[in-house]
Amino acid sequence: GDVAVLVPAAGLGLRLGPGAPKALRELAGESLLVHALRRLGAADSVGLIVVAAPPGGEASVAALLAQSFDVPGGGLAAHVQAVPPHWVVGGESTAPAIIVVGGGVSRQESVANALAVVPAEFEIILVHDAARALTPPALVDAVAAAVRGGHDAVIPVLPVVDTIKRVTPGEAVVATVDRAELRAVQTPQGFRRSVLVKAHQDATDQHTDDAGMVERMGLPVQCVPGSELALKITRPIDMIIAEALLGEAQ
Ligand code: C5P
Repeated sequence: GDVAVLVPAAGLGLRLGPGAPKALRELAGESLLVHALRRLGAADSVGLIVVAAPPGGEASVAALLAQSFDVPGGGLAAHVQAVPPHWVVGGESTAPAIIVVGGGVSRQESVANALAVVPAEFEIILVHDAARALTPPALVDAVAAAVRGGHDAVIPVLPVVDTIKRVTPGEAVVATVDRAELRAVQTPQGFRRSVLVKAHQDATDQHTDDAGMVERMGLPVQCVPGSELALKITRPIDMIIAEALLGEAQ
């Protein structure tokens, strides 16, 4: 594949309750990160994955990934190689290699750290939250295809089901927003490399997604249909939903 995927996985996941960093929490016996990478690795377009691990946890994340994928039939990697300051899992097989770097204090910084190690030959770069662990490979390929087809920035979206109100800090309703013109945004978000690099160089404030930085530059961002399976595992109820979805898939 000609696509590199950056996976910010350095968040603590405090909204999920106390425990390990979110990407390392287990769902049906495997960490969210491993679930996410397995699906990225199954997407034909993907040639490289860069994981931003919790700072200080790079080596243990690399070891976990080696254990999960550095096996016959593991699907992603052939061997583990320590390349300080980052770790490379795989690289000899035709399956995508995984590079592990340290994340930052914000999601944006974690993405920037991962972006910094992507070799120049990758012209298309996707950014994908480890928390969207069940995202199907077909969605990854669809986002990559839309970038390849000429869009500089692409985001998967779903319609908004709830009625949305704008409120004051005191929780008084200001207005009802017309939900027909709203979309809920998922990942992977896809970018032409030069656009993502410039967005990160120019960003002066923090954004919750990468497309936000591209919008800020005044560049167009294109929506494509997202997937219910790409839900972001954030709150305790999301773990219950994800487990049910996994059970249904088997
Ligand atoms: O906190 P939030 O839900 O927005 O996190 C989205 C994704 O960004 C998660 O996969 C999380 O691990 C990642 N993240 C990160 N570095 C941070 C904060 C969040 O990689 N400092």
